[in-house]
Amino acid sequence: MADVQNCDSCSSSPLELFERVTAQGEKVRSLKGGKASTDEIDAAVKLLLSLKVTYKTATGQDYKAGSPPVDFSPVSNNGPTTTQDEDFVDPWTVQTSNAKGVDYDKLIVRFGSSKIDKGLINRIERVTGKTPHHFLRRGIFFSHRDMNQILDAYENKKPFYLYTGRGPSSEALHVGHLISFIFAKWLQEVFNVPLVIQLTDDEKYLWKDLTIEKAYEYAIENAKDIIACGFDINKTFIFSDLDYLGMSSGFYKNVVKVQKHVTFNQVKGIFGFTDSDCIGKISFPAMQAAPSFSSSFPQIFKDKKDIQCLIPCAIDQDPYFRMTRDVAPRIGYLKPALLHSIFFPALQGAQTKMSSSDPNSSIFLTDTPKQIKTKINKHAFSGGKDTIEEHRKYGGNCEVDVSYMYLTFFLEDDDKLEKMKQAYTSGALLTGELKKVLIETLQPLIAAHQQRRKQITEEMVKQFMTPRKLAFDF
Ligand code: TRP
Repeated sequence: MADVQNCDSCSSSPLELFERVTAQGEKVRSLKGGKASTDEIDAAVKLLLSLKVTYKTATGQDYKAGSPPVDFSPVSNNGPTTTQDEDFVDPWTVQTSNAKGVDYDKLIVRFGSSKIDKGLINRIERVTGKTPHHFLRRGIFFSHRDMNQILDAYENKKPFYLYTGRGPSSEALHVGHLISFIFAKWLQEVFNVPLVIQLTDDEKYLWKDLTIEKAYEYAIENAKDIIACGFDINKTFIFSDLDYLGMSSGFYKNVVKVQKHVTFNQVKGIFGFTDSDCIGKISFPAMQAAPSFSSSFPQIFKDKKDIQCLIPCAIDQDPYFRMTRDVAPRIGYLKPALLHSIFFPALQGAQTKMSSSDPNSSIFLTDTPKQIKTKINKHAFSGGKDTIEEHRKYGGNCEVDVSYMYLTFFLEDDDKLEKMKQAYTSGALLTGELKKVLIETLQPLIAAHQQRRKQITEEMVKQFMTPRKLAFDF
């Protein structure tokens, strides 16, 4: 998951915002002029509208093509802009003015993906014979692309593989980072398939104020946390882009194929790049696309170019894979399927997601039991009432309560969760009591992770990161 501070587009200069709106406008025009699907056009138009709103908020002026901003009134960058009525989601920014968080149903429409509905969850259960993970049952993984194709393949005994990743921007992961790894592990166990995990140290070098050495070091440190989630070494390949690109006979070829089939205009439209972004950023999306193709891993898949890929990731990564799915058929490959998760909300509220760069917005995997307790008690946004009397009378609001939201991620017991929801909503359960349940859920979970991480040796990291055949014959 990308690290996100407050509002990236709010911190952009008015001129940069102007350029983003202009680029998005060009993209909409080129989509309408080309053979783009209505979904794609719709998604691009929605993004254009939301960028225009951001522009207006920042400058106080309506966007006018060809007229860069003049004499604008800058807005403060302290926290979310509340005048915005559109959620903003891209790989770097997640922002909404709604305390309940991003409107995910709208996002499905805007991104043109499909909802993970009861029918699909039932099918997963039927096909695998396993109870669907609580992330599926509770709508934490809420959207998908082509998951039915994966299930068809599985039913027909056709192989597929999993791909997920992490941008190593800091040494410590927070609990939000665990979501896609916990889910990837479950998928790997249920379907018994290979998993590749990309560590985009190159991306973090390009985007952050980091040296190459530091970014690589973080990749290795993060690999330990990922391994500590319990992945099977015989079925999992973890790689750093900085390392693997030079070692693989397949990966770079695919990067170049993607690069040849995506124009600057397209990435401008998808990612909001401007003329002043370095060319490393502009070509990076091809690096994140390449692992979606089995021929990027000849040591695992031999010469097979048609093993389908399934990517569990947070929805903010979807722009990369929309681009990937668009190029895939043009370079003779299958489109990767996707499973999208909602964001893990910041302690301060669901208006934005957790960020590694703000220690108080997150609970880290390195936090002590005491830090966990203090952070939750002090910072977790409460949907409770101001006084005990009022709370008892009117009850709390689970929809905006961050402690309750976190419990939906980490408390596996459905009955207990439902009882707490009822008790909190009725006012029988107080905020302090709800927080206590969360603290007591997270403390042992994080302590256990720390225990497992301690056992991970450099040698194990090296094994996971060595290109090799896995326990599958292709
Ligand atoms: N760009 C992602 C991040 O910043 C890392 C990533 C690379 C990734 N490949 C991925 C995430 C595939 C999910 C799926 O965190």
